[in-house]
Amino acid sequence: MSSIKKQLLQQIKSAREESSKTKKFSGNLMDYIEMVEKDPTIVKSSHKRLHDAIEEHGSYVMPDSDSRKFKVFDGESIKIHKYFEGEFFGMETVIEKVMSFLSSAAHKGEESRQVLLLMGPVGAGKSALTEHIKKALEGKKYYTLKNDPHRGEPLQLIPRSLRPSVEAALNVKIDGDISPVARHKLLNDYEGKYENFEVEEVTFSQRGRRGVASVPPMDANSQDVSVLIGSVDISKLDKFAEDDPRSLSLNGAFNVGNRGVVELVEVFKNEIEFLHTIITATQEKRVPSPGKSDMLHFDGVILAHCNEAEWNRFQSEHTNEAIMDRIVKISVPYCLELNQEVKIYEKMLGKSDFKAHIAPHTLKIASMFSVMSRLKESAKCDALTKMKIYNGEEVLEKGRVRKVDIRDLREEAKHEGLDGISTRFITKALDNALTASDKGMITPISVMDSLTKMVKEQLVDESFKTKCLELLQKTIREEYLKILETEIAKAFISAYEEQAQSLFDSYLDNAEAYTTRAKLKDRVTKEERKPDEGFMASIEEQIGVTGSSRDGFRSDVTAYMFAKMRRGEKVSYKTYEPLKNAIESFLISSVRSMARIVTKSKTRDEDQVKKYSEMIETMIKEYGYTAESAEEILAFASNNLWRDS
Ligand SMILES: Nc1ncnc2c1ncn2[C@@H]1O[C@H](COP(=O)(O)OP(=O)(O)OP(=O)(O)O)[C@@H](O)[C@H]1O
Ligand SMILES: [Mg+2]
Repeated sequence: MSSIKKQLLQQIKSAREESSKTKKFSGNLMDYIEMVEKDPTIVKSSHKRLHDAIEEHGSYVMPDSDSRKFKVFDGESIKIHKYFEGEFFGMETVIEKVMSFLSSAAHKGEESRQVLLLMGPVGAGKSALTEHIKKALEGKKYYTLKNDPHRGEPLQLIPRSLRPSVEAALNVKIDGDISPVARHKLLNDYEGKYENFEVEEVTFSQRGRRGVASVPPMDANSQDVSVLIGSVDISKLDKFAEDDPRSLSLNGAFNVGNRGVVELVEVFKNEIEFLHTIITATQEKRVPSPGKSDMLHFDGVILAHCNEAEWNRFQSEHTNEAIMDRIVKISVPYCLELNQEVKIYEKMLGKSDFKAHIAPHTLKIASMFSVMSRLKESAKCDALTKMKIYNGEEVLEKGRVRKVDIRDLREEAKHEGLDGISTRFITKALDNALTASDKGMITPISVMDSLTKMVKEQLVDESFKTKCLELLQKTIREEYLKILETEIAKAFISAYEEQAQSLFDSYLDNAEAYTTRAKLKDRVTKEERKPDEGFMASIEEQIGVTGSSRDGFRSDVTAYMFAKMRRGEKVSYKTYEPLKNAIESFLISSVRSMARIVTKSKTRDEDQVKKYSEMIETMIKEYGYTAESAEEILAFASNNLWRDS
């Protein structure tokens, strides 16, 4: 026998043994009641069950130490549900709303009689979110009447007259009645002795059609309510009468999803008649039975999703008011936070069998494009600035952090994030860039090319197309060149961090002396001298601090740093964003001409060859390039950077 076969057989055997060890419940209603008496939490409404299944993974409030709390969420306290962490990015508020819906519904508030509708643009993650929510139930146990296709709660067998006392004794609430099929069994197989009715332990499974149902949209011709409520099995009609429950096939979505979740995919693509079942399913918690039987009790979470156009069309028909009234709509906009958008693609590429080298900044450049394409124009700042503020970054202007309030920007642009470039557009561009590459890698340059090509070929709306091309060919390209210039200069300067830190120390000494009108003591010779204004000015001019604004800047920096030091915080050249920018820019400009010569030269002398290969080495070791991507980036830089010098 081959070793793999042997190994597999062994694994199958031990898996079987394992599963036979976990004993499944078997017994009748009385045994079930005994179990419920010990643990009343076995009996749960579908909303509570789903809510608990997600909550059980834990949650926490975003800590103050997370910079996103103040910079992105404006200090609001945001609850993070661990179940969604690492899967969904920049969707914290959407998830909070979903959880708050489930929580109210779990307490049997009005939400338990409403449909949860996720509405948002294509590729915003509605399907993925619904899928993930449903998955929380997968494999979880629940108890049903044996051989009841509607899988009702066993306690529904208890007659109305006995319910108050049973409910009080067990500390549970019993809703609804058994299905017609179960009733028929009760009367015929158990002679009405409900205490003997057998109870079964089952697990939620979407593939097994137990407790999780999904209804795809159907075209008008093939649309049939039997998808929702099951049908009368015609083949059984010669055996049973039409009103005999044994002729029923209770295999519709509301039967399968009873006790769990029913998902209505792209719900408004269906004809409206199709949706009327939703009204009774939600409000009365009853769904029609096929054939002539009475309505069936239904307890399930109804999750629906759709896009904005469909919602608007639906909403505009006032005959739809009855359904609208039973819907809690949660908007699922695109992610507008650059760092989070990047994580979406990291996740997607991580899950695919995409094994290519992704050069540094590639996903960031692609994400800049999608995020900026989604932003509404602001009167307060340009798109790039807005993107950075939404990303929680500090934007500098003339040596100061620019005071544009994230709240003002959001208020100015109601309805933002509901259109623009979708996540799928970006993933396709990444794929195309890889296919076009003969070196099995993608770089910001190849991605910008592939995005440009796709924009030209695929976007229909002319003004949006123009906006996108401008973003790609101007805004993002220029921003990338800046990133690149800094990176190359950093790679060029040996011991970059140390140099920056020493410039910082020296600047701080000078600025302090200048501000306090004191003399500066040389650290080595102990000689006293006046602060070096020329040196300070050469740093300050990097960020446009000149003339009379210098004094203010110097005293700001000094006050800021000493306040930090007094609090025992460590300060470095990175502590104060404006000064960090000034120092970096000073360093970069000090090596600009050298970096340019070395990068651009067709023929390099010995020294330059050494410098060039050191630079490539740093790019590979410290920044994550490969030799090939570093070469490609440098070739691009030499053709596009340093034009003016
Ligand atoms: N914020 C996000 N976090 C994580 N993944 C996301 C996010 N937004 C989108 N995605 C991913 O993008 C892909 C497309 O999303 P999905 O299919 O769920 O979109 P949709 O809203 O259902 O779109 P459509 O209306 O076209 O059906 C999925 O792989 C999803 O995981
Ligand atoms: Mg979808």
